[in-house]
Amino acid sequence: MNLFKRTHMCGDLRKENIGESVVLNGWVQKRRNLGGLIFCDVRDKTGITQVVFNDKIPEELFEKADSLRSEYVVGIKGKVAEREAKNSNMDTGDIEVFADDLVLYSQSETPPIYIKDDDNVDDNLRLKYRYLDLRKKKMQENLKFRHTVTKLARDYFAECGFTEVETPMLIKSTPEGARDYLVPSRVNQGHFYALPQSPQTFKQLLMVGGTDRYMQVAKCFRDEDLRADRQPEFTQIDLEMSFVDVDDVIEVQEGFLKRVFKELKGVDINTPLPRLTYDEAMSKYGSDKPDTRVGFELHDITEKIKDCGFKVFTDAIAAGGSVRGICVTGAGAEYTRKKIDKLTESIKSFGARGMVWMKVTEDEVSSSVNKFFSPEELKEIADDFEAVSGDLILIVSDKDKVVFDSLGFLRRHMADQMGLLDDNHYNLLWVVDFPLFEYDEEADEYHAMHHPFTSPKEEDAHLLKTDPTAAKADAYDIVLNGVELGGGSIRIHDQELQKDMFQALNIPEDEINEKFGYLVEAFKYGAPPHGGLAYGLDRLVMLLTGEKSIREVIAFPKNQAAQCMVSEAPGIVYDDQLDELGISLVKEEK
Ligand code: AMO
Repeated sequence: MNLFKRTHMCGDLRKENIGESVVLNGWVQKRRNLGGLIFCDVRDKTGITQVVFNDKIPEELFEKADSLRSEYVVGIKGKVAEREAKNSNMDTGDIEVFADDLVLYSQSETPPIYIKDDDNVDDNLRLKYRYLDLRKKKMQENLKFRHTVTKLARDYFAECGFTEVETPMLIKSTPEGARDYLVPSRVNQGHFYALPQSPQTFKQLLMVGGTDRYMQVAKCFRDEDLRADRQPEFTQIDLEMSFVDVDDVIEVQEGFLKRVFKELKGVDINTPLPRLTYDEAMSKYGSDKPDTRVGFELHDITEKIKDCGFKVFTDAIAAGGSVRGICVTGAGAEYTRKKIDKLTESIKSFGARGMVWMKVTEDEVSSSVNKFFSPEELKEIADDFEAVSGDLILIVSDKDKVVFDSLGFLRRHMADQMGLLDDNHYNLLWVVDFPLFEYDEEADEYHAMHHPFTSPKEEDAHLLKTDPTAAKADAYDIVLNGVELGGGSIRIHDQELQKDMFQALNIPEDEINEKFGYLVEAFKYGAPPHGGLAYGLDRLVMLLTGEKSIREVIAFPKNQAAQCMVSEAPGIVYDDQLDELGISLVKEEK
């Protein structure tokens, strides 16, 4: 093959190169024939250079240049010259290359999507032709940025004494609480591997194995519903440390985050980062991943209005719930009836049946409950929120969970609508002291909020036998601008305590043995006190690049239906493959 060995990338050439003979390789972005002149933009991951074919070159070469089409792959030899009409929108806009030779490496059919950052093409088409989508500058920059974050993580944790260890992909079920992806075993028919939801149990085994400080850039698999920040297959920066308490883990992580923000964004993060207890986060922000770039804190008026006589409020209180609200500064005029109705609609998905609003003006407080409260009573409530003229108060009364979820959503949603969330402002904080258990209403049972190996706070360990739901855990999440970036905990290393934990969770002995027997067994042979954390790498990169979805920072992500649009996975398999696995499919009758 006639390969023109390149001397420069397509984004490299500047005024200083004028007069040099160069060789470029890349894709044709576009070609224009202006009669005696052909302009051809050649692109690679670094940028675009304008190449000119004029009538001084042999006719045959000119004709070859004329045959070029979008996305043809070419090699160009030529001389750098100053451009007459400079293009300040291009890094290489001061120069152009006068071609004296051209090689065509391959042709392209008309591409189904334009290779342009702001092309408004359908997402599924982008994912189907991902290799074309990846040619866009933004996508290449995102991949490179992700690489830089990953490298920085590897370097930083190596400096801190962590060893990167790979853990297996074909394992038994892991304890993160999502649905597993299962892989049938051919050799052991009727048995299945699970793909790891995280390396949790193996990193704990590594601590028992004396590795002391472990890290891994680890692929994780969870069969759960997709969202903008969730993929069925994602990557964690996964960490575990021996002989540590919560403060030790947090200190090492703050060093990491400080370095990430300084080196990659030029931003100084002040450490120690703020820490909010779970209870504080919920009561102030209605969320365990609060976005603190904006105020609009929740205010509890349960006590104040408990005798108000308005049934919606008093019924909620009688049923054990609460009445809380947020005061949205200066939102009174912007939020018309229609817009407020939309907000009310939007919180129905959290179980809210309605919402009370109050608008404060110079002379009165108007509200959706004028009929039930006197003007003085309304004024009193508004004063309790410290509302001033122009403010909008939104109140929800229900079970605490509904109230928190609704108001937690509203404060961030409205701040977003009002343009108050600055993507270049990074509010990092820790949420600590999570409850050890959470109640699953559907199943009417308690689950470990983090996972069953999470240690209760020392002072709460006795509660496992008496009042488990009151126990708090040595668990922590790192939150950035309202997104859970990572989470972890100190683990239980004491066998007796682990037994109490399983008992409190009502997990029968045989299920424990079946699922986690190997970890319980390992702990019989000397487990060090240990703890750790895992970051969602995709989420970290998404936030640092200012993207709205983790799909933008994953080379080949899945679509909403968990399909790989490029390879069309999942696909059917042949009967003989199923036979080998001892599996038969139940065909649905049509
Ligand atoms: P956890 O389940 O909190 O903890 O996960 C850690 C972090 O991983 C990211 N994450 C996801 N990112 C994209 N798509 C998903 N489906 C997804 N699920 C989770 C989040 C989350 O904070 N083994 C524990 C960690 C530990 O205790 O050390 C664990 O996996 O950013």
